[in-house]
Amino acid sequence: MSMSALSAEGMKRAAARAALESVTHGMRLGLGTGSTAAHFVDLLGARVKDGLDVVCVPTSERTRAQAEGLGIALSTLDETPQLDLTVDGADEFDHALRLIKGGGGALLREKIVAAASTRMFVIADATKEVETLGAFPLPVEIDRFGARSTMLQIERMARGLGLIGPLMLREVAPAERFVTDGGHYIVDCAFGAIDDPETLAQRLSAIPGVVDHGLFIGLATAIFIAGAEGVRILGNISGDPL
Ligand code: A5P
Repeated sequence: MSMSALSAEGMKRAAARAALESVTHGMRLGLGTGSTAAHFVDLLGARVKDGLDVVCVPTSERTRAQAEGLGIALSTLDETPQLDLTVDGADEFDHALRLIKGGGGALLREKIVAAASTRMFVIADATKEVETLGAFPLPVEIDRFGARSTMLQIERMARGLGLIGPLMLREVAPAERFVTDGGHYIVDCAFGAIDDPETLAQRLSAIPGVVDHGLFIGLATAIFIAGAEGVRILGNISGDPL
């Protein structure tokens, strides 16, 4: 099938398949969360059935359940604190391999697992590529204690950077808040274009109620981008972050 005939799901799977080519026997892998990462886990499961020997740390309970169902050997960061490669999706990425993640609410574990990995591959369809991060509302994970006050502090800090946009406490249903695997809330910050992601990342991290944020900077080493013309790779599949 030509790539132009592929659906969005087909493109996600093509990116996942391309990333899987770098997985070899004996690797310690981080498994991402989301619909694109789910394609990777599915394809990895087929390789494991054929005898590939890898051990994996999932970034969410959802991914854990999927991987378990496929017979993939699982571990934890306590048992396996250093990983060779994490493969995960993203909500947005730019040419400098900076990401927005957390649309699926798993950003904290995703960042911990990515930071424990020598390499991080991002798999995505071409619609996730942006000139400037921020069209996708930035997810920020906050402690439940003092949530409203933390939101106010985020709002004030962001205004100081010229970022004005509604902050929404994520809900799964009206008046029912989304709670992460770690027991926290997510605030979705619709700032629009984020011209200086590094400064925003630092200032968010300085707010005590902020557990972590969805800006992933200096973590991705390669991005596999599936589009109509095939899969293109940004970055370096064998090396360090840009
Ligand atoms: C999960 O918390 C996110 O960081 C996902 O990796 C991101 O939302 C991408 O998900 P999709 O692959 O479903 O677009």
